Amino acid sequence: LSLGTASDLLKKYEGGSVLDFGDAIICPGFVDAHTHFPQLQIVGSFGETLLGWLDKYTFPEESRFVDGNYARQIAKRFIREMLRNGTTAAAVFSTSHRQATEIYCEETLASGMRAVVGKCSMDQNAPKQLLKSIDRDVEDLEALISQWHGRDDRIFCAITPRFAPSCSEAMLNELGSLRARHPDIYVQSHISENLEEIDMVHDLFPNDRDYLAVYERFNLTGPRSLYAHGVHLTDDELKRMGETETALIHCPSSNAFLGSGLIDLRRVERHNVPVAFATDIGGGTSFSMLRTQLDAYKIQKLGHRVIHPVELFFHATLGGATTLKLDHLCGNFSIGKSADFIVIDSKPGDLLNDRLHNSLDPDEKLFALATIGGSNYIDKVFVQGNCVHERL
Ligand code: GUN
Ligand code: ZN
Repeated sequence: LSLGTASDLLKKYEGGSVLDFGDAIICPGFVDAHTHFPQLQIVGSFGETLLGWLDKYTFPEESRFVDGNYARQIAKRFIREMLRNGTTAAAVFSTSHRQATEIYCEETLASGMRAVVGKCSMDQNAPKQLLKSIDRDVEDLEALISQWHGRDDRIFCAITPRFAPSCSEAMLNELGSLRARHPDIYVQSHISENLEEIDMVHDLFPNDRDYLAVYERFNLTGPRSLYAHGVHLTDDELKRMGETETALIHCPSSNAFLGSGLIDLRRVERHNVPVAFATDIGGGTSFSMLRTQLDAYKIQKLGHRVIHPVELFFHATLGGATTLKLDHLCGNFSIGKSADFIVIDSKPGDLLNDRLHNSLDPDEKLFALATIGGSNYIDKVFVQGNCVHERL
């Protein structure tokens, strides 16, 4: 990636081909720091809160991914939805199936997108077709890591204990050892999303002083550890997350949809916890990181706080890339990074077009994008300089 005026760059790259985007906006591709590919078909499932939603909708749907053909069909559609919405990098949960996870990696490779991918580990508290023995699980994870981690600088692997209630102590222990053998692997999971879930963790792990302590005890916190939700974390837990560089992934659409609660992001930031934004499909209902910015704004507003448009945009781009340790590759237009960007284009007569032209201040333009922007305005998507999506 180089930056400069057209005349300088045309001189520097004489003879190269030129893409002229006219007066469209180009901006860094979005980073979705937590989402579930096998939940595409349960987006918008009515009425439940977390534990009921998992039992009634999520576990039955994820059980279908034992079928490789189904997994491939959904993987393709899921990746297409993300690209259509301008997401160029994502941290993605698979099911507990090795084959479905391999298929997701294959489809990511073919699509040109960037992703951190994790096969869910679960050995308790779910239907038995989703549970794996510890030995089998670790064997599958070792195979996935050796085949996929770091592939093409685009695909990375995450150890993915679904959440503490899904894993026995023995399984968490083995996952922590696996992590010690692969220090550059990611860890992703869920934490303190829902009050009933937290009660369940206290019952299952009575000797740990809080939810985070379970993950700490098994070497599952620290840099490259991504914990979604954290709606009900205590100050002490946040303090330890900040000290260890354990990230909190904010999922505003999901937290509202499942009624999980209103997080105070200022309190999280006071403890220096790395933060990124995420859609959390299918607890969340939109693939758009523009909509996610708006949802994050609304959730803080309900707590009588505001997030500045630049901060919203940062969390969906460079902030997300930094939290995911991908900022040496993407997140902004710094020289030397790869060209991961999107082209946003509105036509006269579009609501967005009016707002972009009537508001001169760049902050107002960014906020207009977050509030009334959407996939219909995303014309082209590039990763590593390759066009990976074009609007029809
Ligand atoms: N906690 C454990 N599994 C899940 C999941 O699939 N979605 C959400 N939102 N929370 C979880
Ligand atoms: Zn999730």
